[in-house]
Amino acid sequence: MTKSTNIVWHESEVTKEDRRNLNGHKSAILWFTGLSGSGKSAISVKLETALHKKGIHTYRLDGDNVRHGLNKNLGFSSEDRTENIRRIGEVSKLMVDAGLFTLTAFISPYHKDRDQVRELVETDEFIEIYVKASLEACEKRDPKGLYKKARLGEIKNFTGIDAPYEAPREPEITLDTTKLSIEESVEVILTYLKDKKYI
Ligand code: PPS
Repeated sequence: MTKSTNIVWHESEVTKEDRRNLNGHKSAILWFTGLSGSGKSAISVKLETALHKKGIHTYRLDGDNVRHGLNKNLGFSSEDRTENIRRIGEVSKLMVDAGLFTLTAFISPYHKDRDQVRELVETDEFIEIYVKASLEACEKRDPKGLYKKARLGEIKNFTGIDAPYEAPREPEITLDTTKLSIEESVEVILTYLKDKKYI
């Protein structure tokens, strides 16, 4: 890959603050991380609906969907996962600049990749949400039949089976989805956002 040279940053006249003022709310990344089948997508879908109903501007980025387009050239090696998360991080940063609450649902298994995204934005613009469920629980749910395939060796580098998952050390929010329903998880996040005056 060749690097761009002779490029100059152009400032817009309309700023992030202008967009936030027009929207009447802040913007931030709600970064969901967890094993396949932990509930990232399900919770982020319902959270987006709840926020939308409150008149809050949102956009949701999801692993399976983004891998159909923007990241369709990436697989599941550790290098490709890192590049996947790097691109999503940059896109999310643009969305925060656009004034949106950006909900991302990616396994994002590595500390360093998630921390790199955290560093891309202001401190209060990155909210890490650990969707916690044991491998045993996720494997039991197996909504897409992928764990079964991974156990049979039909999928290689499957997170939790033969690829690692590094659980967040200090996430802003932890949701134990073996104990909380989807609705309860959404409530926990909404309460956090209200308490911290995001919404
Ligand atoms: S990552 O690790 O953040 O880059 O992964 P992500 O972009 O979130 O993609 C995860 C979804 O891809 C499907 N899938 C796999 N997951 C993990 N490991 C392997 N090898 C794999 N192959 C395909 C799977 O449907 C994941 O979706 P979720 O929603 O997490 O179940």
